[in-house]
Amino acid sequence: MIDQTKLPNDLVFVEYSDYNQIAEAIRTLVVRGAPAIGVSGAFGLALAALQSNATAKDELITDLEKARKILFETRPTAINLKWGLGKIMEVACQGSDIDQIKESVVNTAKKMADDDIQINMTMGKKGSELFDNNDTIMTHCNAGALATVANGTALGVIRATKESGKNIKVIATETRPVQQGSRLTAFELKHDGIDVSLIPDTAVGYAMAKGLVDKVIVGADRILRTGHVFNKIGTYQVATMAKKHGIPFYVAAPLSSFDMKNNPEDVVIEQRKASEVTGIGDRKTAPDGINVINPAFDMTPPELISGIITEKGIAKPPFDESIKKLFQ
Ligand code: MRU
Repeated sequence: MIDQTKLPNDLVFVEYSDYNQIAEAIRTLVVRGAPAIGVSGAFGLALAALQSNATAKDELITDLEKARKILFETRPTAINLKWGLGKIMEVACQGSDIDQIKESVVNTAKKMADDDIQINMTMGKKGSELFDNNDTIMTHCNAGALATVANGTALGVIRATKESGKNIKVIATETRPVQQGSRLTAFELKHDGIDVSLIPDTAVGYAMAKGLVDKVIVGADRILRTGHVFNKIGTYQVATMAKKHGIPFYVAAPLSSFDMKNNPEDVVIEQRKASEVTGIGDRKTAPDGINVINPAFDMTPPELISGIITEKGIAKPPFDESIKKLFQ
């Protein structure tokens, strides 16, 4: 995988042969973005099967349970991690013998990676219909190729819109605290030759009030059956501003990002270290010992969302009904 912590300065590929390394890569944002975390978790667990010295099926399942727990505890908010690990466990439990299980979990992880690309392509095509020629589209965080196996969710829609022949521009927020927008989204879009302008997170209101934004699209780490969307911190502010200015606000996410069981209060919002806020690079920008609140995600309520783009189609409000239909 690409070490995303090094972008945009260095494009470094890393290889792992131990599932603990994959857990560390997820924990430290070497790989990040909900679908990429989900598929990485699946590969991590498949690797754990290959690493196991078990001689009987139940021993192998015990080893996998241990690895699943380590991988699961890396990051709490994106539901895709649970989904990816759950799929591999399911396949392992159904297996007949050790060799067959090892082979089938690796094949399942590979298929999940291939499927993710196809899903993003489908989502991109379906979502592109919502965007018009000459639209300027705002996006927050990075929901691109780097956040998935390839192509991206929100950026997949932007790519498909451009490929359909429409002339579009993108405004990317820098996305503090660790700058996924400026480091990753701006990098990806510039690489693809898409017209992108970077703005500070604090300029969202300015840009919308000036009429610089026609539509907004973001990804998601978890979507509840009610249409509550958990995504990178700041998404709620962008959605609120969009509502204020009558700008359509779309979310693009695969069905693997939906959590049909939990309620908003059940979702754990990851809290990150203070140093991400008290300094820029090696330079301190806050007084020593200051209290810091540094959540990685926030929740956007359904009333701020115009549509949720998935591989099965576009869910529109009321979301409790339209989301249910996606799963029928
Ligand atoms: O902390 P991150 O970088 O993993 O957060 C990523 C986001 O919030 C993305 O917008 C989300 O995962 C959608 S990715 C297709």
